[in-house]
Amino acid sequence: MIRVFAPGVIKLFGEHAVVYGQPAIATAVDRGAWVLCERGERTVIRAGPAQAQIEYDLDGDVAWARGHEPFLSYVKTALRKAGESFGPLKASFEVKNDFPPSVGAATSASVSVAILKAYSACLGVDVSGEELARLAHKVELEVQGAASPMDTAVSALGGVLRIETSPFRYRRLATPIRELVLAVLPRRGTTKEIVAEVRGLKSRHKSIDAVIEAIGKIADEAEECLSRGDLVCLGELMEVNNWLLGALSVVGHEVVLLLHNLRPYIYGGKISGAGRGGVVVLLPKDAERLAEALKSMGIQHYHVRIDEGGARLV
Ligand code: PMV
Repeated sequence: MIRVFAPGVIKLFGEHAVVYGQPAIATAVDRGAWVLCERGERTVIRAGPAQAQIEYDLDGDVAWARGHEPFLSYVKTALRKAGESFGPLKASFEVKNDFPPSVGAATSASVSVAILKAYSACLGVDVSGEELARLAHKVELEVQGAASPMDTAVSALGGVLRIETSPFRYRRLATPIRELVLAVLPRRGTTKEIVAEVRGLKSRHKSIDAVIEAIGKIADEAEECLSRGDLVCLGELMEVNNWLLGALSVVGHEVVLLLHNLRPYIYGGKISGAGRGGVVVLLPKDAERLAEALKSMGIQHYHVRIDEGGARLV
């Protein structure tokens, strides 16, 4: 039996702008996707109930179901790509994720990376982190139509990475950050829809280009704060990045209010990922007290550590 872990990914700086060629900084965390692979007669996929999320608004008579169908598309596409690259395999795959789907913690990327890694390991093929990143990005592109290589690269390679997309390059960054707290708010819309809306806004207003450039400059400056080990500087830039994401219409008032209320416990915070709710990444002054505060507010949260290892057998 093969057991693989692929870390989830939290975007520290630069989401959305990275789609337009600006640099971004993202980190792997010690929660993510787990895949068990066992060779057998048939290929079967089993996944826990957390892979789908259903919300029903009784007043509006509207239902949202997220996770289920896209989740299977990622798994099926990853298995096909693995077959093309590593050869045929019949096996059962059991998939679990520590995070709920579609919240901005790269659940699809980490599942794709973990499936590819498990498949190759089940066949006895050794695959490099860079090759995993490349293949998993192809899975994301095929399922989503458009996706930056950020999530798949960080899940495959681990650590804190500076990502540039055109052409794709990455650099491993030293970090003073050991832990983060992630608050999870209800999210409206998928990454694909939100990215498309930002594209629409950008096409209607030339001034949006300046916002996107400013987000790229923040990622550059944040790199200097990281190398100096300056958490105050990082927290402040996270807040500025968040306001700029607000200018792209992806940060709601609930995020602004949350950051305001948590101010005593954090150096700073921002949305992570496409936005409109989902993960709000918080740089804690005291993670225990911050978690207590979130608990008392009834907000779902995770205390995570930076994962330096990337996708691996466990
Ligand atoms: O919400 P997520 O985890 O799917 O992250 C999306 C990040 C974007 O920069 C908005 C899009 C991308 O492909 O990089």
